[in-house]
Amino acid sequence: MAFISTVSGEGIRNIAPYSCLMPILRPFDLICVASAKMRDTYVNIMETEEFVINLPGADMVEKVIPTASHVPPEIDEFELAGLEEKPSAKVTVPGIRGCYAWMECELHRIYEDTYMEVPYLLIVGKVVHLEVDDRIYNRNDGSWDTEAARPLMMVESDRGMHFCTVTDLKYFEPYGAMFPDGKDPLSWMYKEESP
Ligand SMILES: Cc1cc2nc3c(=O)[nH]c(=O)nc-3n(C[C@H](O)[C@H](O)[C@H](O)COP(=O)(O)O)c2cc1C
Repeated sequence: MAFISTVSGEGIRNIAPYSCLMPILRPFDLICVASAKMRDTYVNIMETEEFVINLPGADMVEKVIPTASHVPPEIDEFELAGLEEKPSAKVTVPGIRGCYAWMECELHRIYEDTYMEVPYLLIVGKVVHLEVDDRIYNRNDGSWDTEAARPLMMVESDRGMHFCTVTDLKYFEPYGAMFPDGKDPLSWMYKEESP
């Protein structure tokens, strides 16, 4: 799951936890967020066309409910949750200090639909700047140390939300393993492997 930070047209800072997130295909720099319509996050994204997807570690689990609380849009949710800003590089919306990665996004497109008479949105952001904590990111091959990041995750039950994190299986396959000739057609995206 992630915390999405936004700012309203009047400059009020907002944070909301989101679990319905997915990247859109490997060569693209697009990310999709499934959202209900009744969200200050949505209103703010419409107003400023910017947002930051902040990836928290398990140590931030106690910040979930303070940021999920249904409070009026005039309330600054950084202050409410006791979270500090991390200035962004490419967008005016700040990120959240203490997370392990930040995707600064510009609004690409919003798909709107209704299902069982309930409106919902697919908000697609273009990631204009991705930053990963130096403790997590391996500059040699672009891999992430998930054991150090301890990404905050959530699974649901009939009773509510159960928070957990990942286990690294230490099992690796190159992208080329998916293709009959063993070559990754998207290898141009990556720098040459160091000898
Ligand atoms: C762990 C967790 C995950 C959530 N994921 C989503 C989500 O993916 N989409 C969504 O619309 N709301 C989601 N919510 C609900 C919003 O975070 C919540 O309604 C919040 O108050 C919205 O804040 P806002 O009105 O300031 O945008 C989630 C809540 C929690 C606690």
